[in-house]
Amino acid sequence: MGRLPRHVGIIMDGNGRWANLRGLPRVEGHRRGAERTKDIIEASLELGIDVLTLYAFSVENWQRPDEEVSTLMELLKVYLSKELFSLLNKGIRFRVIGDRSRLPQEVKEIICEAEKYTEKGDRLTLVTALSYGGRDEIVRALKNIISSGYKPEEVTEQLIDSNLDTSGLPPVDLIIRTSGEMRLSNFLLWQGAYAELYFTETLWPDFSKEEFFYAIQDFQRRERRFGAIMPASLKV
Ligand code: FPP
Repeated sequence: MGRLPRHVGIIMDGNGRWANLRGLPRVEGHRRGAERTKDIIEASLELGIDVLTLYAFSVENWQRPDEEVSTLMELLKVYLSKELFSLLNKGIRFRVIGDRSRLPQEVKEIICEAEKYTEKGDRLTLVTALSYGGRDEIVRALKNIISSGYKPEEVTEQLIDSNLDTSGLPPVDLIIRTSGEMRLSNFLLWQGAYAELYFTETLWPDFSKEEFFYAIQDFQRRERRFGAIMPASLKV
């Protein structure tokens, strides 16, 4: 096994198209998509990845039809209540990033509960990006910094970093996006400054453990220079 990414982020795209292709309602695609996350969490545990961030619902997704939004919220609630024990047993720490103020009260409560119960999990941190947008996250961080009274000369990258929702987590090394779209769609904009990107045509509900392993192998073949020129002996 080569060098592993510490933090993998996934834009789980293509649920709607997967369902359309089968003549099913879009929400069925989300249901299958939610099932798929279990395999990828399992695969991350097997590999020993530290942090897995899943983009489950973006700030832009609030514009979708009410029925789809409420199904996604319901899915999340059911998923968390069903899986909480298993997360706990597997040593998974659960964490949510995004603007929680917009989430339904019941979802907020179950998230708080899951975060509290799993806070000692030390095998994998499972981050769910919910009501999340990278720009929105940066704006909220800046508001915090300004309202805490920092002077301009005190503003550093570390200060911004520690005011983001991802505070304390390592930067994302690898971002995977399914369904053939090749953009970041407001996902981990700050944290992904030097992330390697992996795009695949596979629709999220079909994304297998095998393809996840393949994406990791692909990452291992990349030469990461972080803007510098590195001698071959120092390649990461
Ligand atoms: C993008 O597909 C997917 C979403 C907006 C939702 C992703 C959510 C899940 C996989 C389920 C919940 C997650 C967890 C962690 C339990 P799309 O609807 O944009 O698909 P399309 O581009 O084909 O229309």
